[in-house]
Amino acid sequence: MRLGWIAALGLAACTTEAPRPAARPSSTGWTADERAQLTKLRMVDWLAKDPTNSWADDPKAIALGRALFYDKSLSPSGSYACSSCHDPSKHFTDGLPVAQGVGTAGRHTPTVEGAQHGPWFFWDGRADSMWAQASGPLENPVEMGSDRMRVARVLSTAHRDAYAAVFGPPPDLTDAARFPADARPDGDATVPLAIAWSGMADADRTLVTGMFVNGLKAIAAFERTVLPGDAPFDAYVDALHGGDLTGGGKLDEAAVRGLRLFLRDGNCIACHHGPLFTDGAFHNLGTPEPRGGFDPGRSVGASAVKTAEFNCESGWSDAPDCPELRYLNPDFLDFPSAFKTPTLRNVTLTAPYMHHGGMKDLDAVLEFYSALPTQPVVGHRELTLKPLNLTPAQREDLKAFLRSLEAPVRPEALPP
Ligand code: HEC
Ligand code: HEC
Repeated sequence: MRLGWIAALGLAACTTEAPRPAARPSSTGWTADERAQLTKLRMVDWLAKDPTNSWADDPKAIALGRALFYDKSLSPSGSYACSSCHDPSKHFTDGLPVAQGVGTAGRHTPTVEGAQHGPWFFWDGRADSMWAQASGPLENPVEMGSDRMRVARVLSTAHRDAYAAVFGPPPDLTDAARFPADARPDGDATVPLAIAWSGMADADRTLVTGMFVNGLKAIAAFERTVLPGDAPFDAYVDALHGGDLTGGGKLDEAAVRGLRLFLRDGNCIACHHGPLFTDGAFHNLGTPEPRGGFDPGRSVGASAVKTAEFNCESGWSDAPDCPELRYLNPDFLDFPSAFKTPTLRNVTLTAPYMHHGGMKDLDAVLEFYSALPTQPVVGHRELTLKPLNLTPAQREDLKAFLRSLEAPVRPEALPP
């Protein structure tokens, strides 16, 4: 039987039939509030605004950024591109507990799918724009181990025409006396790359950093197109909206039970909400660090972004105003060991889990939420979390629901 939302609510007054008791909740079992929640979880074809990046929606910048994202020549060894860790065949993750580049990173690789959503980037939010984020892996010695001098040179040679089409002709960087092979600023002024950098003229350093930033903004423009496609869950919400109280049969009964648990007793929705199932905020769950010790998470990330070279208030940003950054208080009591809520879209396909990659599958994650066996080493656990004591059947239902969030990546995100 097909009924509109209004009829399902029992509000259709003009009817010749005898009055019926209001069906609340409807035969789908969803209350009006829950149906509103479901609508907000539906994937949308939208882009978050990024005033820090004037090229965020420029098709030519997107094309350049796509080529750069997949270009291994950006790393000195020629072995690492962004896509080495953010592999499109693994939904832009790497399947490893912690990332492996030139060295071993300290954290697990999150997906790039839908990452543009939200004001902060990285597990600890130490970048406040997607382009500022991209400077991290490029110049990180254990990730791509590259440097801005190299990136500028690759832009002015291999990507010359695509660069010129967006930013104008690149400057000539062939004078080896002015432009060394590799150079970047570094916290340790004694490393060769930092010595090479400090040996350059101020104007040349500004020129090279400007090209580097242009490259980052192009990469970010591309990453904004890396979005999950529609999943069975979205088709279910559409069918409900269209008045089909069965949800078009798009979710099986186990998945519907899992969704109910997600919204109701499980209260997962408290943090995993919006079209990407993340609030973009930071929470301390108190998951144990598999390699011991503790990770300070957001408290260090928040301090770092305040003084970051490429933050919204820097001269490299195109934004006239940066309220998020201005009002950020790194001393906030909930920040120690808090991490950014990850998206749950395609989560069934991106094991292992958590910022430390220490939970090998969803059973481990659900066991954790069920028992909350450990206490945070620093800070305090988010108060919304209570041990859920999930039965084996409930865990299967939650997994069935999470599987309904699987969807292919949109084709424009794939290699050129
Ligand atoms: C060696 C593996 C590796 C490479 C190469 C790499 N990344 Fe990452 N990426 C990571 C890890 C690990 C993190 C999380 C680090 C953290 O939070 O401290 C991350 C985080 C991110 C995030 C943040 C996602 C979020 O939700 O906050 C984005 C976006 C991203 N990377 C894009 C890129 C881009 C663009 C490149 C190329 C310029 C790149 N990555 C290269 C491993 C890598
Ligand atoms: C208090 C906010 C909050 C609640 C409530 C919550 N989560 Fe999370 N979730 C997070 C945060 C934050 C992380 C990352 C934590 C970390 O890395 O230390 C996370 C991680 C996850 C992950 C791992 C994803 C990945 O890519 O690593 C899954 C799966 C998950 N949550 C599912 C659920 C489910 C299912 C529920 C309900 C039973 C739930 N969450 C309730 C905040 C929350």
